[in-house]
Amino acid sequence: MDATATDTPVGTPFSTLIRTSSQAKHDDATASSFISDLVGGRHSREAYIRYTGQLWFVYRALEESAELLKDDPVAGPFIKPELFRTAQLERDLAHLLGAQWRTGLTPLPATAAYAARITECARTWPAGYIAHHYTRYLGDLAGGQLVRDRAERTWGFERKGDGVRFYVFEEIPNPAAFKRGYRELLDAVNADDLERQRIIEECNRAYDHNSAVFQALDGEFPLSA
Ligand code: HEM
Repeated sequence: MDATATDTPVGTPFSTLIRTSSQAKHDDATASSFISDLVGGRHSREAYIRYTGQLWFVYRALEESAELLKDDPVAGPFIKPELFRTAQLERDLAHLLGAQWRTGLTPLPATAAYAARITECARTWPAGYIAHHYTRYLGDLAGGQLVRDRAERTWGFERKGDGVRFYVFEEIPNPAAFKRGYRELLDAVNADDLERQRIIEECNRAYDHNSAVFQALDGEFPLSA
């Protein structure tokens, strides 16, 4: 199906367009068995650790490109160090797996494909990179907070402490204001309508990558069979 919201009035802000045009994929990802089971507190600690390890590959791809993109006329305004998650993920993984966490940490094929697409966009199509940036970071600021709450309750992590630091944005004291500012950046993105449409398509692709990772994790930690 065409991702375009064809019944959207002319002049609709891009931040609204990208949200409404990707809502169905968002809801698919949210309804995946792995995420439902995670939020439902049904998964083992091992499953949560495996998931957190996969996130590390994704955020490394997002954040190792930051230096390359920070002065880019299109993607540059989105590079905000207060969002960076790699250091927090590494702290969580050290807590969950020990100091040698990197040894034996492997990406699932779906994760490797996702990370490769992020890197490809960062190197060859900065506007496409924005789609990946939006899909992950705005999601972490929103539904990610529910995941943190459930993780704390299910596996006994200290509130906002080691194990769930990925979900804690210490440098963003007011997430609602931050999201408003982020949407203003989206609305002002330095791209024409066709390019904006391509960004929306890439956002839907980003959701598909997430769903593929969730499906692979569900295969490793099946519960509902
Ligand atoms: C635990 C499952 C999830 C829940 C309960 C959830 C819930 C929500 C909610 C309630 C919002 C709206 C918040 C707001 O307007 O401030 C939201 C927004 C968002 N979520 Fe999720 N979400 C989940 C999973 C995901 C996943 C897996 C992704 C992507 C990988 C994602 C990406 C996003 C994005 C990009 C937005 C921002 C939409 C916008 O305002 O433009 N979410 N989510």
